[in-house]
Amino acid sequence: MQIHLNKGSANENNISTLVVFISQQSGAKLTLPGMDKDLVAFLNEAYLDGTFSGNKDETIWFRNSNVAGAEHILVVGLGEVKTNDYEVIRRGAAVALNTLKSGKIKKAGLDLSSLFKSAKDLSKAAQVTTEGLLMMDYDFDIYKAKKDNGKKDKKVFHGIEAISLLADKKSNFNNLKKGLEAGQIIGDAISFCRRLGDTPGNLMTPSTLADETVKAAKGTKIKVTVWDKARIKKEKMGGLFGVSLGSSQDPRFIIMEYKGAGASKKPIALVGKGLTFDSGGISIKPSQSMDEMKYDMQGGATVIATMLAIAKLKLKVNVMGFVPATENMPGPSANKPGDIFTARNGVTVEILNTDAEGRLILSDALAYASEQKPQLILDAATLTGAMVIALGNTHTGVFSRDDKLIKKIQGAADAADELIWPMPLTDYHVADMKGTHADLQNISNFRGAGSSTAAAFLESFVEKGIPWAHFDIAGTGWNQANRYPYCPKKGASGALIRTWIEFIKSH
Ligand code: BES
Ligand code: ZN
Ligand code: ZN
Repeated sequence: MQIHLNKGSANENNISTLVVFISQQSGAKLTLPGMDKDLVAFLNEAYLDGTFSGNKDETIWFRNSNVAGAEHILVVGLGEVKTNDYEVIRRGAAVALNTLKSGKIKKAGLDLSSLFKSAKDLSKAAQVTTEGLLMMDYDFDIYKAKKDNGKKDKKVFHGIEAISLLADKKSNFNNLKKGLEAGQIIGDAISFCRRLGDTPGNLMTPSTLADETVKAAKGTKIKVTVWDKARIKKEKMGGLFGVSLGSSQDPRFIIMEYKGAGASKKPIALVGKGLTFDSGGISIKPSQSMDEMKYDMQGGATVIATMLAIAKLKLKVNVMGFVPATENMPGPSANKPGDIFTARNGVTVEILNTDAEGRLILSDALAYASEQKPQLILDAATLTGAMVIALGNTHTGVFSRDDKLIKKIQGAADAADELIWPMPLTDYHVADMKGTHADLQNISNFRGAGSSTAAAFLESFVEKGIPWAHFDIAGTGWNQANRYPYCPKKGASGALIRTWIEFIKSH
């Protein structure tokens, strides 16, 4: 799907289907200043008979109506609109695209002045519109039967071909264009992250994940280095190496470097769990929903996608990305409960449950990231089922002892319209992870607070003094359609990428 920016009306741009947006209406009459009079008359009728009042996600078609300079009109309700509420715009654009898709419309125009009414930053408005459109357009259907045998049958709907963003003639075109371009980069990064997650474990192995990273980084300023099993062992990454032993697939350690600022500026380090399939290992998981453990590399995919977006946005920052990638399988050489390994930083760990493997592979990655002397470390992982119990799929839990960092992260999440929630991480949780026969054990000595004790475990591998925050995306990494129309019903969400980009942008 192409997204274009055009000046002028639908009529001037030869657009036959136009989408117009209105806010929630109340009272006896419609208040739609500046809108085409004939369209207002249609809407008034619908408003009076109660079929449409501009509520959030509400839509109404006026086909063959020939008003407002177009043949067909789709009106999308935005609900209550507050100043600078960009999620209203993102969501409105997504709902519009979805309705156009159901209506098998190939090309349409979006009336930006009605969509951007309450936005002060029009470049950002264009960005979030593009994000909403691209996130809604994403469909993981590459493994489905092709209905047309490769020939383009005109009667078969092949998805939306092009959307024109119709801007007012007086608007600052360059400003809008910049926003559109940023939105395209962010939307593409989210689609990339989702595709990595949606691709099943047999087709998205640690080596495929590394290959996809190398391929995607071509043409950008990102340098990618990939370590194989022998190198991982040589580098003393006992956690990652050990978890990989139960699988016939070799592990990888993916290192990404982007230098957008001077060499004197310390990099930001991003670390992500790249567990391409988590069966639980010897502490095997129950079979119900085990297929969802193909998403256990969403943290890693978030790192890779964020790095790609940052490089394409040409941000003036230095960022490094680290993704330990492996399967967690119960093969003959797999970790066994009771096994002890030594992590890269010399800390020894007793494995009491092989299903708590994310923290084991992250231990080495966090230690390695610390060695690069970054200004701060952020990590993302589908780490604990306890996170899903605590926050469901609404908020990503954030764990950090650094209040200043949490504040900055909250600001970035607000700017990106993503929901995060600060979670506790204390010395009590650290004490719960002390081992009997080794320094640490990989599950808590006590019941409850499983996400906090997991975070406390990770903390042992971050060098003291480096600000660090851990994001548990177990609940938000996939199946978010009940929250956002632009997320797939069943599939990876790409949550957190927007927040991380905002965070890095403001650095
Ligand atoms: N990948 C899972 C966490 C997970 C579970 C994410 C469900 C999303 C949905 C992780 O590796 C895991 O299995 N964690 C265990 C830890 C426990 C054994 C301490 C868990 O949360 O049950
Ligand atoms: Zn697990
Ligand atoms: Zn896992």
